[in-house]
Amino acid sequence: MLIGELHVGGLVMVTTRDKIYLAIVAVLVLVILALANRFILSAPVVEVGDGRRGITLEHGEHALVLREMRSFLSGLQQLVDALANDDMHEAAKAGRSLARAAESPIPGVLSSKLPVEYKLFTRSIQHLLDRMAVETEWAKLPKRTLSQVAEVIQTCVACHEKYRVVVASAAAPAQAHDPGSPSLPGKKEP
Ligand code: HEC
Repeated sequence: MLIGELHVGGLVMVTTRDKIYLAIVAVLVLVILALANRFILSAPVVEVGDGRRGITLEHGEHALVLREMRSFLSGLQQLVDALANDDMHEAAKAGRSLARAAESPIPGVLSSKLPVEYKLFTRSIQHLLDRMAVETEWAKLPKRTLSQVAEVIQTCVACHEKYRVVVASAAAPAQAHDPGSPSLPGKKEP
């Protein structure tokens, strides 16, 4: 039954006119994506004055992001340590737990506050960590893993250069900040 269906599917002819239609559809899709990207990107991001973009999160959400980040850093430390000791068993273990840390679920409310490009960075780090974990386990080539670590850290660096978090409750009083007072920005009791 399946083979019969495959035969029917194989008889597809693409004419020049079809190609033009496809090109028009592709251009329209690109325009729609560009517009969607612009709207989604402009909503949650604020300029923070140091060249990075601020993602506005609640205090608890910020804590969640930072906790995940710290687990990345400590996972990388364990992995590099294992590689330095030629201990591929420990390296594979560290690689697996890093990949798991990256896929830990982010609550829906948080995800909707993240710009598309930030989510692409997240996806890319998940993908890199997954591949690194699998290859470390099966190929057992320390140098190969080390070069993948460099690739992973490159993505850490790229995201950090572009984004930081602005805590929602700290952002509000900053607007009402009295320019005459020399107090530090952020949440502070008068
Ligand atoms: C998708 C973007 C993104 C990626 C990828 C990313 N980070 Fe972060 N990281 C952030 C943001 C945003 C913060 C918060 C900065 C702030 O507080 O404003 C942060 C903060 C941190 C912190 C500080 C934690 C704390 O408690 O203050 C560490 C450490 C860190 N990241 C490590 C890493 C490591 C290691 C990687 C790569 C394995 C990584 N990050 C990948 C976005 C990212």
